Amino acid sequence: METLNIQTQNLKIRNLRMTDLQDFFVYRSNPEVTKYQGFEVMSLEQAAAFIDSQKDKHFGEPEEWVQYGLENVQKQQIVGDCAIKLHQDTRVASIGITVSHLSQRQGFAKEAIIGILDFLFSQKEIHRVEEIVDAENTASVLLLESLGFRQEGYFIENIFFKGKWGSEYQYAMLRREWTKNPNKP
Ligand SMILES: CC(C)(COP(=O)(O)OP(=O)(O)OC[C@H]1O[C@@H](n2cnc3c(N)ncnc32)[C@H](O)[C@@H]1OP(=O)(O)O)[C@@H](O)C(=O)NCCC(=O)NCCS
Repeated sequence: METLNIQTQNLKIRNLRMTDLQDFFVYRSNPEVTKYQGFEVMSLEQAAAFIDSQKDKHFGEPEEWVQYGLENVQKQQIVGDCAIKLHQDTRVASIGITVSHLSQRQGFAKEAIIGILDFLFSQKEIHRVEEIVDAENTASVLLLESLGFRQEGYFIENIFFKGKWGSEYQYAMLRREWTKNPNKP
């Protein structure tokens, strides 16, 4: 098991800490931010319990989602969080990302995912990275396509959440595709 610490130009991707609570709560309590995600808005107490549940988790455990903070190194505060899960076959990973409404459209999600892909493909023996997004989540769809992810699945009304049936796209990237990807650092 290892403590993840990915450094990109403007971000440090590292375990969540209790000192992140206020910045984490600001966006995790915003229904616009959580609209397309499998979780509901959080109270301050729920946000604190969530950080507590994550702070000692490590990269490398099969079938376990681990949430990491995206720390803006200039401001020394988190601007969002991301999650990585290794599958039962630990050469396959799933990822997810959330950027605070206060910090969107500044390139943080793109920079973070490039950092995560480079870590998974270049430093770890990962063969394939997947992300599932709500089909109505245009921002995420455009983000993944701008990163060169391949849309390979469209699941129609496969998930009931937030009061209605939702459809999802599955995106993926293989290690050999990343090798030739223009976003690769
Ligand atoms: C999707 C999300 C992570 C994007 O984060 P972000 O830091 O604002 O994204 P970036 O600034 O890195 O944008 C990179 C590219 O993605 C696309 N994009 C991002 N947000 C967009 C939006 N609101 N509308 C259209 N395109 C968007 C654009 O192509 C953008 O490039 P550009 O700014 O040069 O046009 C953010 O909107 C978010 O957290 N949303 C709520 C949570 C969520 O739905 N997460 C995904 C589910 S796992």
